[in-house]
Amino acid sequence: MVAEPTASPDGPRALGSDEWPLLDHLVSTVFRPEMFHDYPQLFNASNRANLRVIREGDHLVTHVGFTVRPAVLLGTVITVGCIGAVATAPEARGRGLGSICVQDAFDHASASGVDLMLISGGRGLYTRVGCREVGVDHRFILEAGNAAGRATVARPGLALVPLTDVDIPALGAIHEREAVRFVRPREDWERAFDCGIVMNTPSDFWGVSDGAGIIAYVVIHHPDRIRHRKAEDGLFVRVVEHAGPRDAVAHALSALIDQYGAVCAEVHVGGHDSELARVLRHAGLHGVPEASSGTIRVIDFPRLMGKVRPLIAGRVGHALASRLVFEADERAGSARGGFSIGDGSRTIRVADHASLGPWLFGTPDGTHSGPEGDQSLAADLAPALPLPALWYGVNYV
Ligand SMILES: CC(C)(COP(=O)(O)OP(=O)(O)OC[C@H]1O[C@@H](n2cnc3c(N)ncnc32)[C@H](O)[C@@H]1OP(=O)(O)O)[C@@H](O)C(=O)NCCC(=O)NCCS
Repeated sequence: MVAEPTASPDGPRALGSDEWPLLDHLVSTVFRPEMFHDYPQLFNASNRANLRVIREGDHLVTHVGFTVRPAVLLGTVITVGCIGAVATAPEARGRGLGSICVQDAFDHASASGVDLMLISGGRGLYTRVGCREVGVDHRFILEAGNAAGRATVARPGLALVPLTDVDIPALGAIHEREAVRFVRPREDWERAFDCGIVMNTPSDFWGVSDGAGIIAYVVIHHPDRIRHRKAEDGLFVRVVEHAGPRDAVAHALSALIDQYGAVCAEVHVGGHDSELARVLRHAGLHGVPEASSGTIRVIDFPRLMGKVRPLIAGRVGHALASRLVFEADERAGSARGGFSIGDGSRTIRVADHASLGPWLFGTPDGTHSGPEGDQSLAADLAPALPLPALWYGVNYV
């Protein structure tokens, strides 16, 4: 049965400066009381304009929050929004408030210069409006009993060291050399160490030292705090962010199995991260195809493609890349409409958002549909894709 409103809705709009207790009540009721503590990137005063809410009477009934960060995709820089903590009060559900607030978040992000939205969920609320899983990524698992594989990745001169916020400058210096990453303000590191939550779970931060200093790091979900873990599964190590030389990251997988007495260690490897995939395959491991985390929707197609044009030029040549014109049928942020790509004489069309994200960023099984129109242009552009899919790590909200 559809619930009836008790007062006319006010919003969607930004959270008012006096409404923090109301928001705390909503997200505490819908999720857990620690939400403000666990999601400091979202719930802080400087991000208030991006906390979109609907109010009825004395209560906030719906919230959709997002953060805005730059991100590097192989040398190009785009602006990314990350949606999280989406909640409607139980008594107000099923009236479309969540859907209205999600679209408001896309509109507000569009006006704020966001090119691409990441959403930490994949339910109908998002997929109905074109959000899709993307990424040609893999998950690798190193089993504790795989003696040959563990011997191959082990590096005698390397050792695990626990990290604290004192190590933030060293971590930042390692992270900033990653080719596909969020551009992370120091505050995000400080918040992560302060709350200890990464990708929705209590996490541990480990460095890999060569004796002279930290050369790589891994962030892992604390093995006995992993959500939905069955006791009979045993402890396992789940790496949720890594950076630095890939042989050191692979070494850490084996060392962490010993550290926690775990049955295995698993790591998500982005499609662009051929070096870590190579190191792990050399140890006899097989990657299982996997999407990145959550879903995505492009916000401003012409602006996004303009920003990644140098990457496209590197892949298909400047002559073609410089001629490409990218157009969207509808305004930026809209869930509707299709997309055109032309080079002056030839045109291809992508029907809608549901096709656009998978075409741009790829899918694990590669079964997404290609563009319609001039197939010679589609073929000339094929080497330009996929673009690398972002992985949240510390930036998860
Ligand atoms: C998810 C949540 C925010 C939805 O809020 P809401 O205000 O009820 O959202 P809506 O009224 O727009 O949509 C609710 C349901 O109505 C139905 N619905 C709404 N619009 C519809 C449409 N156009 N066509 C068909 N069904 C529709 C769907 O069943 C939808 O559920 P779905 O999104 O899971 O498919 C709310 O249920 C909630 O707070 N859940 C707990 C927290 C949570 O899971 N948050 C999301 C984390 S990813």
